[in-house]
Amino acid sequence: MFSEKLIQKLKSAESVVFFTGAGISAESGVPTFRGEDGLWKKFKPEELANFDAFLKNTELVWEWYKYRKQIIANVQPNPGHYAIVEFEKIYKSFAVITQNVDNLHRRAGSKNIFELHGNIQHNYCIKCKKDFSDELILSKTEIPNCDVCGGLIRPGVVWFGEMLPEDQWNGAERAALSADLFFSVGTSGIVYPAASLPYLAKRNGAYIVEVNPDPTPITEIADEFLSGKSGVILPQIVKIILDEKEN
Ligand code: OAD
Repeated sequence: MFSEKLIQKLKSAESVVFFTGAGISAESGVPTFRGEDGLWKKFKPEELANFDAFLKNTELVWEWYKYRKQIIANVQPNPGHYAIVEFEKIYKSFAVITQNVDNLHRRAGSKNIFELHGNIQHNYCIKCKKDFSDELILSKTEIPNCDVCGGLIRPGVVWFGEMLPEDQWNGAERAALSADLFFSVGTSGIVYPAASLPYLAKRNGAYIVEVNPDPTPITEIADEFLSGKSGVILPQIVKIILDEKEN
């Protein structure tokens, strides 16, 4: 059911990258942003996911992040996340570049991860940058303030209009440039600059494989579009690599 070309690429690849979005965590029970039940259907990004909104509606924004923290704390990685961990064991040069803030790649066991949009388990003071644990944040009903300088504490995620963390972006760009096999999984591919990475990889000669139940703008440049759920398709691909190795 997979093309001969893909099987050849899996055999010959030296540097493999996975670029992931909310779809990889959908089968864990984390809502995506733009689907039928997407989070942005219920909440407007401009009301919640930017710094001005945070200053204006601090209570509402914290309520929304606490709600998402709770969802994420109660879910588990799914077979898609675990399949990506297997890839890392097989290929010497390997990276996961994720737009997700849910920490599920790390919880599954992936090691070389670039988190482009931060991590929802991080919280820090907007003035002195001190880090705060989720335990402390979730134990408070009031808006959390820094115990050192009194500044507001914010979630450690990237909001619209903010720069991506420089070290994560630089690492992701380097990985995309060096990839010869690049998987784009569970992302709508419309939020930039993250969405530029498949194009960068393609221009540099990578074979692009997209895994998604629905086509996206990335489908146009994909060498293969594998239509379906990542929790189903990725374990099948791992099995192919392992079977090929045995023969
Ligand atoms: P989206 O919600 O925009 O897209 C999710 C994608 O996952 C869609 O293309 C779905 O078709 C696909 N999908 C759904 N279920 C799937 C499954 N089981 N297996 C594989 N794919 C599946 O989420 P992102 O592309 O991650 O940014 O959104 C990008 C950014 O927009 C997010 O990081 C967030 C958001 O605003 C910030 O918060 C800065």
